[in-house]
Amino acid sequence: MTRHPFDCDFRVTPEQKIQFQRDGCVRLDGFLNGQVLRMLRDRVEVEMHRETDNSTTPALYRVNYDVEGDKEGVFNLLARRYFRQALTDLTDNDLFFTGEQIFEVEQNADIGSTWHVGVDSFGFQHSNEFGCTLWAPLQPVNARGQRGGMAYVPQHVISGEWVFEQIEPALVSTLRAKEKAGIRTSSFDYVSMRHGVLNSPAMREILENLCIEDDFEPGDELLFNKMVVHRGVALEEGPLAKRTAYVMRFVEAGSHYDLQRARNLDYPTQRYRTGLLTYKPLTRQPIEMAEAGAADGDLIAECAYFGEPGRRTLRRERRSDSA
Ligand SMILES: [Fe+2]
Repeated sequence: MTRHPFDCDFRVTPEQKIQFQRDGCVRLDGFLNGQVLRMLRDRVEVEMHRETDNSTTPALYRVNYDVEGDKEGVFNLLARRYFRQALTDLTDNDLFFTGEQIFEVEQNADIGSTWHVGVDSFGFQHSNEFGCTLWAPLQPVNARGQRGGMAYVPQHVISGEWVFEQIEPALVSTLRAKEKAGIRTSSFDYVSMRHGVLNSPAMREILENLCIEDDFEPGDELLFNKMVVHRGVALEEGPLAKRTAYVMRFVEAGSHYDLQRARNLDYPTQRYRTGLLTYKPLTRQPIEMAEAGAADGDLIAECAYFGEPGRRTLRRERRSDSA
């Protein structure tokens, strides 16, 4: 069979599988080859210069939440057998690709992201169903030098499950209760309560003490599930002007749309419409799925919101497939 330029000899080791099950995260060194990186860099170049209401440029930290361009290259990557086998084997799931994002941080912008879990990016899915992120830095990351990578806490040390399952729904009910009691709330109250849970002085101190910050070469990735507490690290003084990361999100192929979670995420947009945001927030994506016809409990993989569902689906190989 002809070898595709994106093919790669990467194979999951038993140790990586055990680590992912235990920690909810694992480094995949050499998972993407030079041709794939070239395709992703081209893609980033196009997307970051596209005029769109889906991106933001706060203080030299640019994010494109909803990559719209031609997905042919990405679908070609998803079609590679090594890619499909590795991700379905590590996660023990058939997977469905829900989207891409690009995060770009400039040197000395002096901000990384705050500690968080995947409540925004997986805000359309039932909380007890599996979701994960493949984080691919496109420049080298030197954790003891210029930094600019990812800090994360293995799930067996501290899991963010309680934030996902319990705190997130409680935010809106708390704001509603205050309003009912005659106390006016604002988008600032929402944001500070939401970020405060994992970013209080006490939590920050604990998480900074427990986190891991790795080195990466382009082609090395971090795979982590939606409950892993993590944050982007600022890019300090050094040779790189900026560090760009390309991110892919996957959910278990049989997972379901959670309309209430989507509505909760859209609450600040609806309630404080004149708030801080001049761009479309990531938190709108889940409710856009309902606007595209999704009903509560629908299979995410069957929602009209996602085009070309067949090419987004990664199925585990049955024994007969590999014969
Ligand atoms: Fe994140």
